[in-house]
Amino acid sequence: APFVVAVDGPSGSGKSSVSRAVAAHLGGGYLDTGAMYRALTWWCLESGVDLTDLDAVAAAARDLPLAMSADPAEPGVLVGDDDVTEAIRTSQISARVSAVATNPGVRVALQEQQRDLITVIGDEQGSVVAEGRDVTTVVAPDADVRLLLTASEEARLRRRTVELHGAADEQALEATRDEVVRRDRDDSSVSQFLVAADGVLTLDTSEMTFEESVAAAIAAVDA
Ligand code: ADP
Ligand code: CDP
Repeated sequence: APFVVAVDGPSGSGKSSVSRAVAAHLGGGYLDTGAMYRALTWWCLESGVDLTDLDAVAAAARDLPLAMSADPAEPGVLVGDDDVTEAIRTSQISARVSAVATNPGVRVALQEQQRDLITVIGDEQGSVVAEGRDVTTVVAPDADVRLLLTASEEARLRRRTVELHGAADEQALEATRDEVVRRDRDDSSVSQFLVAADGVLTLDTSEMTFEESVAAAIAAVDA
């Protein structure tokens, strides 16, 4: 059976970057479940689906023409013929994704697709690292290794700001604060699961460098 690693964490905890490094270390595949919620949000906005119409958005989730690269060195996301790899990271999408992700019909549809993808990628590549908000608890609770990455709000805010603005001066921090804090709150019905379940190892990366976080995650995976 393929080796499955599940990683969860809030925004800016380092789950994407650390998961990609772990997948590269294992020489296997990578699945970003958050990218699926983002791609669905992009597609609804693009095709004029009203995000408050829960049934319409859930139907869009079931029909989403999604293709994702499982290569940790080259993450890419296609919706139909559109390469949305960059477009799904804009603040326009970040501001709306929680409304899509808290739709129960959406969650059921995407969780099912995520389980299928973990099986397909794992069978093809021997291992898969899947990351998100509910991978350790709902999508792949039987994964071989399950990690919860956490970090203080200040650390997560600083990282996002550097990522989006290149530096973390006061003005840039304030611009990002709204986005990070608001999404934490909007995600709270999803993120209440972001407490380590039984058998899930918590790594608090607040005081770690990126390299230290990767080393700690690899140590857990190789143990
Ligand atoms: P998430 O997927 O949880 O939102 P990302 O991995 O996308 O987080 O972003 C985390 C950012 O923070 C990256 O740019 C990463 O290089 C940086 N970073 C700084 N310190 C750390 C650390 N200790 N662990 C993980 N990432 C860190
Ligand atoms: O990288 P960041 O944490 O900022 O976001 P992401 O992982 O791309 O996830 C974007 C959004 O998708 C989150 O804010 C959640 O609303 C949703 N999500 C979810 O509900 N369940 C998951 N397994 C992954 C993401």
